[in-house]
Amino acid sequence: MKYKKYFRKTSLKQDNIGSKFLNEVASKKPKYFLEIGVFHGVTARNVCELLHSIHGQDFKYVGLDLFGENDENSKEIIPSTKFKNPFKNIYFKYILRKDPYSIEAVSDLLKKFKNNVQLIKGNSNHLLKNIDMTKIDYVFLDGGHAYETVKNDLFYSYPVLENGGTILCDDYDLSYAPGIKQAIDEFIINKDLKSEILFDRFAKIEKK
Ligand SMILES: C[S@@+](CC[C@H](N)C(=O)[O-])C[C@H]1O[C@@H](n2cnc3c(N)ncnc32)[C@H](O)[C@@H]1O
Repeated sequence: MKYKKYFRKTSLKQDNIGSKFLNEVASKKPKYFLEIGVFHGVTARNVCELLHSIHGQDFKYVGLDLFGENDENSKEIIPSTKFKNPFKNIYFKYILRKDPYSIEAVSDLLKKFKNNVQLIKGNSNHLLKNIDMTKIDYVFLDGGHAYETVKNDLFYSYPVLENGGTILCDDYDLSYAPGIKQAIDEFIINKDLKSEILFDRFAKIEKK
C-alpha cells in the first residue's frame, strides 16, 4: 500500500519509508491500533485507510499527542510545524483556518473514519496509565524522545505484548536522542523480549 502525505508533514516521508511501514503493519493485520505521537495525523490517516481495506468497519485507531506546546511539555521534542512550501502555510492559515498540529485539524483529516477513531490530547506520561491496553494489538511508538518518556510508554504498552501484539518504535538509533535506544534496549533485556531492527529505523518488539 502506498503511503500518502495528504498535504501535511510527517516523519515517514523519506526513502519510501511510509510504504514500508504500512506493509509491516499490514503483515500483522491489527484491529486495535494505538499511535503515540500523532503530529499532523498523516500516519493516522494512512493506517485507517489500511485497516479499513483489511477489516472494513471492524477496527479501531487511538491516537495520543500533546497537540500543542506548554510549560509542562517543554522537555519534549516537537517537530517544527511550519512548512517549507509557502502555499501549504497559506492553505492552513487562510483557507482551512486550522493549525495542522491541532486536534481539530487532525480530526478533520480522519473524519472519514470518525466511528473508528479516538484522538486524545495530552502527555503520554499521564494518559497511558488510564488506557485499557489489553484490547490493543499494535502500538506505533513515535511520541516523546526523552529517555523517561520512552521508558514510560514502553512500560504501559507491555500488556499489548502479553496478548501477542506488537510494539513498533520509530527512531530507534537517533544520534540526537540516545534515550530512545537506551530505554528500548533496557526494556527488551528486562522483559526478555524478541526484537528486530527494520529498515535501519524501527525497533519491532514482540514476545519470544
Ligand atoms: C515525530 S512526531 C510524530 C509523527 C507521526 N507519528 C507521523 O508518523 O507523522 C512526534 C509527536 O509526538 C508528540 N509528543 C512528544 N512528546 C509527547 C508526549 N510526552 N506525549 C504525547 N505526545 C508527545 C509531539 O507533539 C509530536 O507531534
